[in-house]
Amino acid sequence: MKPAFTVLAACMLLAACSADGEPAVGGPEGGPPPMEFRPMEAEQGADVTDPASRVAVGQDGERMFNRRCGVCHLGGGMGTNLLTGRVGPENALLAQRPGGVPSALTMAAVRNGLGAMPPLSRVEVTDAELDAIAAYLSEDHAP
Ligand code: HEC
Repeated sequence: MKPAFTVLAACMLLAACSADGEPAVGGPEGGPPPMEFRPMEAEQGADVTDPASRVAVGQDGERMFNRRCGVCHLGGGMGTNLLTGRVGPENALLAQRPGGVPSALTMAAVRNGLGAMPPLSRVEVTDAELDAIAAYLSEDHAP
């Protein structure tokens, strides 16, 4: 097989070459072409990975709770499971606790940690995000 044909065949297989048969440029030499990476948050509204918007007041508490706490406190999370044993199944899902969760308890649990829950720093959850989360949890969303 002639070398030029080999390059063309490889380009057709990989679809990663420019029209003139040269490898697509962008990444490091020999590396994969650059990928467009969009953080998950960007799909859902304001890009909360942007420092300017992360510290903005008026965050969406429900969304922030789901994003920052949901891995443990939505259904099946280890926080929900442990709380089922300690405070009963009707109180285990924080977002659906009858009467809501007092803001002082939310603040203390998040900044100091509580039992098996690790403290979360201001890098992980900003003060603005925590304010919004605490306000959301303090309301009664019981089904
Ligand atoms: C790594 C998992 C994890 C994350 C993330 C997490 N928690 Fe927790 N949380 C727990 C566990 C586990 C407990 C139960 C601690 C215990 O009873 O020993 C708990 C307990 C709590 C409690 C106390 C409930 C009660 O009745 O005593 C509150 C309030 C709380 N979490 C709020 C939050 C908030 C708000 C966030 C997000 C900013 C969050 N947690 C993130 C694991 C987590």
